[in-house]
Amino acid sequence: MTDSITITDNRTGQSTEIPIVNGGVSAAEWSKLLPGIWFYDPGFVSTACCESSISYIDGEAGILRYRGYPIEQLAERSTYLEVAYLLVHGELPTKAEFDAWVHEITHHTFIHENMRKRFLEGFHHDAHPMGMLVSSVAALSTFYLDAKDVFDEESRRKQVIRLIAKMPTLAAAAHRFSVGMPFVYPDNSLGFAPNFLSMMWKTAEPRFDANPALARALDILFILHADHEQNCSTTAMRTVGSSHADPYSACAAACAALYGPRHGGANEAVIRMLESIGSMDNVDSFVDAVKQGHGRLQGFGHRVYKNYDPRARIIKETADQVFAITGKNPLLDIALKLEEIALSDEYFTSRRLYPNVDFYSGLIYQSMGFPLAMYPVLFAIPRTSGWLAHWLELLDQNSKIARPRQLYTGPAERGYVSMDER
Ligand code: ACO
Repeated sequence: MTDSITITDNRTGQSTEIPIVNGGVSAAEWSKLLPGIWFYDPGFVSTACCESSISYIDGEAGILRYRGYPIEQLAERSTYLEVAYLLVHGELPTKAEFDAWVHEITHHTFIHENMRKRFLEGFHHDAHPMGMLVSSVAALSTFYLDAKDVFDEESRRKQVIRLIAKMPTLAAAAHRFSVGMPFVYPDNSLGFAPNFLSMMWKTAEPRFDANPALARALDILFILHADHEQNCSTTAMRTVGSSHADPYSACAAACAALYGPRHGGANEAVIRMLESIGSMDNVDSFVDAVKQGHGRLQGFGHRVYKNYDPRARIIKETADQVFAITGKNPLLDIALKLEEIALSDEYFTSRRLYPNVDFYSGLIYQSMGFPLAMYPVLFAIPRTSGWLAHWLELLDQNSKIARPRQLYTGPAERGYVSMDER
C-alpha cells in the first residue's frame, strides 16, 4: 500500500497521484490537474492552512500537547510564563533563560500614559472591556513604530515581550474603567497572575497580595488557554499577519475573533444558561428543549474534540480547589447534573458532544469575582502567547498572503438599469 491518493478528472480521463504527507495532500498538486476547480470547504472544516509545530490535538483521543508536552503535565508542573516561553521559543527554558524572560516581561508591563489618560478614558462609561481591549491592542501599534519591521529579529523579540507583558495591564485597565475604578499601575514585585489580580482588585491598600491558591488557579487557567492550534482567533492572527501587518494589528484582529460567543464568549454563555435554568428541577426540561432544537447546551461540543476536552478535566479539578476557598458556586450542582445527563443521553453521545474548556471555566471566574464581560478578556491574556508563537512561525515559513477562493453564485453579467427604469 502506498501513502498516496490518485484522482481522475472524468472529463478528460487524466489522473494524478498525490502523496499523503503529515496526514494531508497538497492542494497545489490538485490544482495542476484541476486548475480553476476549487475545494468547497466553508469554515475550513477539512482544510489544513499551514504546517505548524506548536500545538498537537488528537480530538478523537482527547489529547492536547504544546510543543510535544502533554497539557496535563504543564498544568500540574509549569507556570504560564514558562509555557509562554515554550510556545514562543519551541523549548522549555533553562533557569537562566527563564529568569531573563520573566525579568523582561515583568519590566514591560507599564503602558504609555497617553494610552491610559487619553485613549482608554475616551471610551463611553459603559464600554464593554473586550471592545476596549480589541481597540487598545490595535492602538499599541501607534506607540511602537518599530513593530512594522516584522523581519527584524530584535524588533520581533521586543514586540513579543511587550504584548505578553501589557495584555494584563490593558485587560485590568479596561475592567477598572468599565466599573469607574481608578487605574492600578503594575507592581513589578509580583508574579504574572498576582500582578494581574492586584491591577484588578487593589483599592486603598499599599500592596495587594492575592490568595496564592487563587493566583495559582488563574495561572493554570492561563496555561490551559495559551494555545489551541488553528482556532478562529489564531487563524485571524495568521491571516492578518500574512499581509505583514505589525503584530499589534494582527493581535487586535485575533482579539476581535475571540470576542464572539462561538469562541471566547462561550463561558459567558454557559453562566447565562446555568442562571436561566435556575434550579435542579429545571435541568431535565432544559435538556429536552435542547434535544428538540431549542438552543444549544453551552460549553458542550467542539469542532475538533470528539471526546472529553482534556482541558475541561483539569479545569474541573481546579474548580474544586477554588471553591474550597471562595465557597461553592451555587450553579455548580446544576452544571454537574447537566453533565451527568448529557454524558448518558443518546442525543449527546451519538453526536459526540462532551464538555469543552468553557463548561467549568466560567464558574471559576464567577467565584473569583470576575464579571461576565471580563471572560473573553481573561481568555485573550494567555492566548496572546499562542497567537505570537503562530505569528513568528508564519513569518519564518515565508508563507503566502492568506487569500482563499470562492465559488461565485451571483448573477451572470447584466447591464446597468438607470434608477427611473427600475
Ligand atoms: N448542544 C446541543 N447540540 C449540539 C451542540 C451543543 N452544544 N453542539 C453541537 N450540537 C449538535 C448540532 O445541533 C448538530 O446536530 P445535527 O447533526 O442533528 O444537526 C451536531 O451536534 C453537530 O454540530 P455542528 O454545529 O455541526 O458542530 P461544529 O463542529 O460546527 O460546532 C461548536 C462546534 C461551535 C463548538 C458547537 O459544538 C457549539 O455551538 N457548542 C456550544 C458553544 C461552545 O461551547 N463553544 C465553545 C467552543 S470551545 C472554544 O472556543 C474555546
